[in-house]
Amino acid sequence: MPGPGAFLVDDEERNEVLDVLQSGYLSRYGEDGDKAFQQKVYLFEREFAEKIGVGHAVAVNSGTSALICGLKALGIGPGDEVLVPGYTFIASISAIMEVGATPVLTEIDHSLTMDARDAEQKITGKTRAIMPVHMLGNPADMDAIRTLAARHSLAVIEDCCQAVGGSYGGRRLGSLGDIGAFSFNIFKVINSGDGGLVATSDPTLYERAFGYHDQGHMPLRKGVEIGKRSLVGVNMRMNELSGAFLRAQLRKLDAILQRLREKKAALKSEIAAARIDGLSFRKINDAGECATLLSVQFRTTAQALAAAHALGTRTLEKSGWHVYNNMEQVLAWKDAAGRSPLRRNMLPATDDILSRSINLSVGVVDGGIGADFGITILSSADDIHRAAEKLVNVVKDAVRTS
Ligand SMILES: Cc1ncc(COP(=O)(O)O)c(C=O)c1O
Repeated sequence: MPGPGAFLVDDEERNEVLDVLQSGYLSRYGEDGDKAFQQKVYLFEREFAEKIGVGHAVAVNSGTSALICGLKALGIGPGDEVLVPGYTFIASISAIMEVGATPVLTEIDHSLTMDARDAEQKITGKTRAIMPVHMLGNPADMDAIRTLAARHSLAVIEDCCQAVGGSYGGRRLGSLGDIGAFSFNIFKVINSGDGGLVATSDPTLYERAFGYHDQGHMPLRKGVEIGKRSLVGVNMRMNELSGAFLRAQLRKLDAILQRLREKKAALKSEIAAARIDGLSFRKINDAGECATLLSVQFRTTAQALAAAHALGTRTLEKSGWHVYNNMEQVLAWKDAAGRSPLRRNMLPATDDILSRSINLSVGVVDGGIGADFGITILSSADDIHRAAEKLVNVVKDAVRTS
């Protein structure tokens, strides 16, 4: 089951894609003089940059590519360390490894995002960047992270993959750091099956990100521009079909977020009113969060396990993809010197919080993130009431007897 944008696909997306099929131009590059060529990827880049308030955007083929491309643009590579939270999708960590740098895992706090105080303690002479992850749609504590970055001259690359359209302090996520990396895979706020984007307001970073995503070429190349390529890149280009689909999804973004916030507020207030012993809600760092999920936390692990069992779901500790302890290939990774910097259970505060937390779906319905129970963006007021009622009943009992 997918993210909210996937529930709302209609003629807007179909017509955009049909435009591309009728034009015959499937690549982002076409004949400028030919009116049939509609430049969907280029237009999507401009529209997305304007939406989030940055100067430049490079559309790519996945969020993983966006992170790698962003790190490459920042010049991060062998010998460098990047701070990243231990609760995130594997790609945040593997992107750092992929560019040859070393991920340094930080604790999370009760917002399920990076604990900036722990991050500060892990800064060494080799630290070059911080990668806050706006996890489950909740903005990371960007005031603290930006202060830390400024104090230690570190770059900030925001992993916005799970928080497309969210904001912090009135600014859209992805516009607060040096680089923002986005995903449009099927589970995200808006999607094109797969896709991603690098956002920045720095012209040099834009040039480098564009170059890395397209064999080193300068932005918006016309053909093969021999003599103008300053770095070695790869091919991470988005095609016109994805760009077209995403233009339609982007037009729906703000309405999607508004609907999610309303539905989440209704679900949360009914659960809160029941005053279940030991149950609290995760800390939300800004009302501009995406409201894709409602995360609840229990006083004890036993309570959380009992509640998860009663709901037919899992605690975050056991939810699969997003917990460093469950990433065997990442834990086995060795740096150039043959050292394994990551170890199971190396983040006791994170392990404790995850063992006491459960995700309820609001807009992202994804067993991989532990959100097997909850509502969707299409849920009616009655559906929301029924979900809340069921949760209150089964969880109250489970918690009482645990
Ligand atoms: C936090 C986070 N970072 C990075 C990614 C990678 O995005 P993609 O699957 O588009 O490569 C994801 C996707 O699930 C994610 O949730």
